Amino acid sequence: MARESWASRIGFILAAVGSAVGLGNVWRFPWMTAEYGGSAFLVVYLCIVLLVGVPGLLAEFVIGRRSHRNPAGALARLAPGTKSWGYVGLFGVVTALILLSFYSVVGGWIVRYFLASFTGSYFSAPATYFGDISFGGEAAAFQVAFLVLTAIVVLGGVRGGIEKATKVMMPLIVVLLAALAGWAVTQPGAGEGLSFYLDFNLAPIEENPVGMLRAAAGQALFTLSLGVGTMITYASYLGEDNSLPFDGSVIAVLNTGVGVLAGFVVFPLLFAFQGGLTDVTRGGESGAIFMGVAGAFREMPYGEVVAVGFFGAILFAALSSSISMLEIPVAYLVDEQDVSRRNATLGLTGLVLVTGAVCAFNPGVFGFVAGTLVDLMLTAGLAGFLVFAGWILGTDALSEFDSGAGGLARSLGTPWLWSVRTVLPLFLLVTLAVNIYSML
Ligand code: PHE
Repeated sequence: MARESWASRIGFILAAVGSAVGLGNVWRFPWMTAEYGGSAFLVVYLCIVLLVGVPGLLAEFVIGRRSHRNPAGALARLAPGTKSWGYVGLFGVVTALILLSFYSVVGGWIVRYFLASFTGSYFSAPATYFGDISFGGEAAAFQVAFLVLTAIVVLGGVRGGIEKATKVMMPLIVVLLAALAGWAVTQPGAGEGLSFYLDFNLAPIEENPVGMLRAAAGQALFTLSLGVGTMITYASYLGEDNSLPFDGSVIAVLNTGVGVLAGFVVFPLLFAFQGGLTDVTRGGESGAIFMGVAGAFREMPYGEVVAVGFFGAILFAALSSSISMLEIPVAYLVDEQDVSRRNATLGLTGLVLVTGAVCAFNPGVFGFVAGTLVDLMLTAGLAGFLVFAGWILGTDALSEFDSGAGGLARSLGTPWLWSVRTVLPLFLLVTLAVNIYSML
């Protein structure tokens, strides 16, 4: 059977933006920004997205489009005669499953908050509510719901499932967030939130430069879905050669735009209705945004309506990302093991139901996986993909980069290749070392 492909270029772009835009933008980004001092974090993060994220994204695109394979198959095929590169790709496939195991716990929280927003049942005691539902049997049940939604889309295939779903969800996310942001910034007291978010204050960088850099790098990889092979997999479904540098830039800009937009919702809400960052919202814990925003909904007129829009947008964002996680191992089984999409999807969803339940029942495991483990695995994974593109593909990577690209993009090809060969893997390896060191 012919391998699947995207129906259109815009379909590919929206699917990739859908993967990138997710809980990373609406849940992790405001939380990290709050923890690391607002605007200072925003500046460092944007620099890393531009200098490391975009070149990294292009490296994954090049590998995917060149091979038309899942990450494990791609690296094995493009480096014939050596088995070990295939294992680097396989590492990505495993990372995707681990990622989905914790991501679907948070996805389950979102399903629950979305439903509960209609009645506002969590408004009055946000902290107690979150404490009650975040881990345990109920968390696992809602996680199952989220995984079932994810599996339904993936079962539909590349065109009929992923492309169709993301084409509907992405515009809706932007419209919902833009409407919420437009409303939030005009609320009395919102100005302070905007100042915290946007006023240029670099002091936090001087206070904790290494911590900030680490957090910003981790966030940049996570938000662009890098280091797992998502972007390899999605680019592997490309048919004709369009400009990868152009598509990659559009994807990065849209992703960053949605993240920044989410900040325009969250910070004005927190300052206008909660009087600023409280211990809870500043706490650097996973529930910060849930509790902080929930408290704000209670204080505002028509809080239920705003809440439904807010959690609806997040639910779409989370789903368009989780499908890209599940698609990696599905593509691996379909490509390499001759399993049907249906069986692959059902089997893998069953597996994640088990590994995910481990996260849903153990806050300790969840915290370790969502924080440290994922940071480490994404960083190591992307370093591997960069070295592969830079040194194993080498000039082939360059011609893939150039194929379909315009003059301006082509002129960036050689600097791109050299950064992919040298500074970028080095940067990632140093980040990895610092991460491991601070863990010990
Ligand atoms: N980028 C997604 C988000 O921001 C998360 C993700 C990471 C998705 C890695 C796929 C692969 O939520």
